[in-house]
Amino acid sequence: MCGIVGYIGHREAYSVIVQGLERLEYRGYDSAGIALYDGTNLNVSKTKGKVADLRSKLETEIPTIGSVGIGHTRWATHGVPNDVNSHPHFSNSGNLVIIHNGIIENYDSLRQELLQRDYKFTSDTDTEVLVNLIEDIKKNEDVKLGKAVQIALNQTIGAYAIAVFDKSKPDEIVVARLGSPLAIGVGKDEFFIASDATPFLEYTKKTVYLKDGEMAIVRRNKKLKVFKIEDNSIVVPYVEELQLNLEQIEKGGYDYFMLKEIYEQPQAIKDTFRGRMLVKEGIVKMAGVDDNLEKFKNARRILIIACGTSWHAGLVAEYIFEEFARVPVEVEYASEFRYRNPVIYEDDVIIAISQSGETADTMAAIKLAKKQGAFVFGVCNVVGSSISRITDAGAYTHAGPEIGVASTKAFTTQITILTLIALRLAQATGKMSNSVFRSYLQELDRIPSKVEEALKCNEKAELVASKYKDVSNALYLGRGYNFPVALEGALKLKEISYIHAEGYPAAEMKHGPIALIDDQMPVFVIAMKKGHYEKVVSNIEEIKARSGKIIAIVTKGDKEVKRLADHVIEIPETLEPLTPILATIPLQLLSYHIALMLGKNVDQPRNLAKSVTVE
Ligand code: F6R
Repeated sequence: MCGIVGYIGHREAYSVIVQGLERLEYRGYDSAGIALYDGTNLNVSKTKGKVADLRSKLETEIPTIGSVGIGHTRWATHGVPNDVNSHPHFSNSGNLVIIHNGIIENYDSLRQELLQRDYKFTSDTDTEVLVNLIEDIKKNEDVKLGKAVQIALNQTIGAYAIAVFDKSKPDEIVVARLGSPLAIGVGKDEFFIASDATPFLEYTKKTVYLKDGEMAIVRRNKKLKVFKIEDNSIVVPYVEELQLNLEQIEKGGYDYFMLKEIYEQPQAIKDTFRGRMLVKEGIVKMAGVDDNLEKFKNARRILIIACGTSWHAGLVAEYIFEEFARVPVEVEYASEFRYRNPVIYEDDVIIAISQSGETADTMAAIKLAKKQGAFVFGVCNVVGSSISRITDAGAYTHAGPEIGVASTKAFTTQITILTLIALRLAQATGKMSNSVFRSYLQELDRIPSKVEEALKCNEKAELVASKYKDVSNALYLGRGYNFPVALEGALKLKEISYIHAEGYPAAEMKHGPIALIDDQMPVFVIAMKKGHYEKVVSNIEEIKARSGKIIAIVTKGDKEVKRLADHVIEIPETLEPLTPILATIPLQLLSYHIALMLGKNVDQPRNLAKSVTVE
């Protein structure tokens, strides 16, 4: 959601910023803008639409010279997406300019106060209120920009990452964060500012991730100054060396990031268990779990909190933990959990799952659980993300950057790591025999090559997609471990092709959804040979009896479902708890091809953002 890029140094700021904004497109946005200081004037160009629209507009609108500037991609919160509401926003004097991610919750009362002092507002945004508040403080208290920003932020309630520039002090940019990520790239005599490190990857690997409640002044040819917003106290910045490389954030020959990420899954899964699963020795080791093993072993229950696809991974984990470790598990939407006064015990273990590590609802749920004394374990993909910092311990999935808005490799690697944690716990509590434990390790080790094999269904998926691309509705059914896969399959279709789809436990069909079935309704059924196969076959018969179209994901060699279904897609056989990883693959590919055939923007679906940093 919203992207921030800034630059101060010796390069042409324009190209650094615009290219940086393109790198942040995956976050989801509806408008874009830039402010460049050309040595005399502070020029702003902004537009509703894509960064490409900004690029063509700004070249005719403002000079693109200068070595300092800030740019933004906006995902609308206050005010519709249009040119006026796009960032950057000027203060009334025209001296200050700001970009902002997040929401200033008390903006209306601040606005009223400023209106009484004759400030004028041209947009509907909370951001324009903030820049004028800073200006007001700077003028009335006769302080420098940094101090004015600090005072202003102490008067605001909400979440933000901001960058502010003052044309009367053009050798610095002031930045701050609370609840929205902000990274500072430290180059030689130059600084980069961005919502994540991808915009400056080719210029520097040295990065300072601001922590919540910190602000910084980046100054041309000077050292970085970081301090606390609350009391101005100095913070010594911790400079990290990025482990990312450019290849990881480029499409590498694929048409879309989503497709690249689907195909990266064999490697991503290997990277998830690298160093953690020693098959020959029969060992699972994970520092975050091992160091807190007593907490896991003594857990009264495990509470999993997450949103969207990560919540679906949590649902799969519920089946796995209960089966392997015989510990009760509850899976909660973070957005509900945070507001419903949940009962949390000190001996609960909370597992928070988040690809981005920045999801606002998951963050708030974690804070609530910690306040009530629970131990919180994070499962994140993005290294150094906010959730990885605020949790008591955790494990990264190491799936590499996921840029397509629709989660793919994040899901399968989340299931992988959660399976490892469940195995470790089952072994530690003696709830699983050593031979069963070892058979899981051996099978997990084979999963990347089985995913590779599952990916061979791509052509079949494309064929099936061509037959069903024009439907308006679809049903997804699965049972047991694969019920969450049905939910995930439906979500993938909805979010990138905008076709209405619902996922259900197959047996629930007769309690309502069966009324929807007619000869126009495609029903995607996950019918693995393991588990409740016969029951699912009966469900398929029921759909067939009502002329529904059946697309079944089956175990290789299946004959029975083949006889009943209109189309089958085969995946390799595996142990039942691991089937979700394989069954998901054809559903990802089906959604991808349908969206592509409908001409949708697969990587940046409308209205969606990659990291949902507001409520
Ligand atoms: C779906 C999708 C979203 C995210 C959700 C949580 O494809 O990407 O549903 O799963 O917004 O995001 P994270 O995992 O970053 O907390």
